[in-house]
Amino acid sequence: MPKARSANSIRIRGARVHNLKSVDVDIPRDAITVITGVSGSGKSSLAGDTLLPAVAYQIEHGTKIPQSDADSPQFSKLTGVEYLDKLVPIDQAPIGRSPRSCPATYSGALDEIRKVFASTRESKTRGFNASRFSFNSTAGRCELCKGLGAERIEMNFLSDLFVSCPRCGGKRFNRQTLQVRFKGANVADVLAMTIDEASEFFENVPTLHRLLSSLQAVGLGYMHLGQGSTTLSGGEAQRIKLGTELARKSTGKTLYVLDEPTTGLHFDDVKRLIAVLQQLVDAGNTVIVIEHDFDLLVCCDWIVDLGPTGGDQGGYLMGEGTPEQIAKLAENATARFLRAKLKVD
Ligand SMILES: Nc1ncnc2c1ncn2[C@@H]1O[C@H](COP(=O)(O)OP(=O)(O)OP(=O)(O)O)[C@@H](O)[C@H]1O
Ligand SMILES: [Mg+2]
Ligand SMILES: [Zn+2]
Repeated sequence: MPKARSANSIRIRGARVHNLKSVDVDIPRDAITVITGVSGSGKSSLAGDTLLPAVAYQIEHGTKIPQSDADSPQFSKLTGVEYLDKLVPIDQAPIGRSPRSCPATYSGALDEIRKVFASTRESKTRGFNASRFSFNSTAGRCELCKGLGAERIEMNFLSDLFVSCPRCGGKRFNRQTLQVRFKGANVADVLAMTIDEASEFFENVPTLHRLLSSLQAVGLGYMHLGQGSTTLSGGEAQRIKLGTELARKSTGKTLYVLDEPTTGLHFDDVKRLIAVLQQLVDAGNTVIVIEHDFDLLVCCDWIVDLGPTGGDQGGYLMGEGTPEQIAKLAENATARFLRAKLKVD
């Protein structure tokens, strides 16, 4: 089995959460590592249930996580975490439960858009400030739907039904607010734009343009800024989190952990995602991806392969190494796919 470059790695020894068979894994800190293996093989047990809580604890408290039960600890040893100062887990959980939340609110784009509208001459003469352009502002929003743009009709046994608000027609703001225009568009027009359209529209507003570019980089250019968060797919929600995180200044010592980020992505989008993850690594950060997608496997720096099956018979480390090293392993399902992809035999 190929050996990890252990000098610059996060090293886990004796991981035994759930079905893991006391596995030893090294994860290089300046690389994209993909944890792969069939469903139930132990990927989430290793990343989400062993590594994440231990790293989170150590970053927060500055000391190693106490093992709850000394007779059956979750792992024997974890080293290399002291070089990290931030942990960013990026999962597929919804980005907001409020019916008013949307990609623009979650990413912070709306805060910047509000500043743009507040800076117009129209706003200044009317005395409108940035809060006027918030769904939460009683002065600015449509009072009938309270900024939701829709009326909720409760249905027995079914999820609530939403119908467009009869007063604002779904525009969410009141007439006076909508009279304020920037480059001919009001705030409702902007929320109706796709991220691609908005990125072009705001190309001269640097903070906003940077944020929108990050969302484009994770393949979300097609999404409308005002689409309700509750209507997003799991993969879309995850990419909004990733894109938003990308626009932030990275510490250069951050560990990003992504669970199945390629869900719903086409090959071109996977390539863009890899480029984005590579940027994070180039800045010194560490990226761990739990993934089945072989396009991503071929392009990553390091693979941790678990198997051979799910459940009790799984939880073994089948191999760790570069894609080329893993491809050489005999009797290994991941290796077979990699050989086909890498066109080696
Ligand atoms: N809380 C738990 N208690 C007991 N067994 C668990 C628990 N969580 C997971 N398992 C078992 O541990 C094994 C590994 O599960 P895990 O979620 O780590 O798999 P995975 O590789 O992430 O799979 P998938 O690709 O389907 O997400 C499975 O057999 C699972 O049933
Ligand atoms: Mg899993
Ligand atoms: Zn309304």
